[in-house]
Amino acid sequence: MRILTTIEGLQSCLAQWRQPTMIGPHPSIASVGLVPTMGALHPGHMSLIHQARQANDRVIVSIFVNPLQFGPQEDLTTYPRTLQQDIDQCTVAQVDALFCPSPETLYGQSAPTPEQFTQVVPIASMTTHLCGAYRPGHFQGVTTVVAKLLNLVMPNRAYFGRKDAQQLAILQRMAADLNWPIEIVGCPIVRESDGLAYSSRNQYLSATERSQAPVLYQALQSAQAAFAQGERDSQRLIQQVCTTLEQVPTLQPQYVEIVHPTNLQPLEQVTTVGLLAIAAYLGKTRLIDNTLLRSR
Ligand code: PAJ
Repeated sequence: MRILTTIEGLQSCLAQWRQPTMIGPHPSIASVGLVPTMGALHPGHMSLIHQARQANDRVIVSIFVNPLQFGPQEDLTTYPRTLQQDIDQCTVAQVDALFCPSPETLYGQSAPTPEQFTQVVPIASMTTHLCGAYRPGHFQGVTTVVAKLLNLVMPNRAYFGRKDAQQLAILQRMAADLNWPIEIVGCPIVRESDGLAYSSRNQYLSATERSQAPVLYQALQSAQAAFAQGERDSQRLIQQVCTTLEQVPTLQPQYVEIVHPTNLQPLEQVTTVGLLAIAAYLGKTRLIDNTLLRSR
């Protein structure tokens, strides 16, 4: 596996990969799959990598803790960084290259602030709900770094988890609006055996908080059960979620919302499909989870 830290190194690796090779009488060019991450890799990330491995000749994983997507009160400095373990996991998963640039490599000399750096701005209607309402500037940070990574790598496919459903919807819209010939692939949420969705931030949880954290999944499941029995009214489905979340009195929900999964607009009724999403604090740790409510 190649470990690349510079843009020049990345470009020369990609140029080698894209040399046409003759397969029978026809020249063929390797397909490339990109998996963008912030490292501290866990089984959720690895599922994206496995999916990329199956569909592409070459797989490149990026590891970059992107300062531009962290708010001033957020965990940029304490975010887990486990590069050697990440390298080991990617080697086992037969990743062809890791791209781990420094902030200076990706953004220039100084650490960027939103005022200093030209940013990609997603359409307002996709950032006014869910996490966008509570993390001002976050999705500009995400779209900016992902736009840079996609422009640098120009993969055939890029892989993102449904765990971050708003991020996925915004990136799919960005790629479509900007006419990038890149397939943005959404991958299923991977969970621990008790239902807690894997997240690099789960390691912030104390033992007690960790035992309480599956309540998010249980709340989503309780809404799924009500939906399966015919409940279509968003307020009542949301109430069902809130009632389940109240089983853990120390949990502080930030939002429970039902929106359209593509345009992220709130739905009063879930007639065909709705994205039910939760964000909540357990102590200082912010957890998110979601599920699709879909009529069969
Ligand atoms: P990060 O949180 O490291 O996540 C990288 C990718 O892994 C994202 O697409 C995320 O949705 C996916 N992922 C995380 N946990 C998952 C789980 N339990 N199941 C399935 N997929 C999961 O998301 C980011 O980084 C950044 O915002 C990034 C896109 C890299 C831009 O900086």
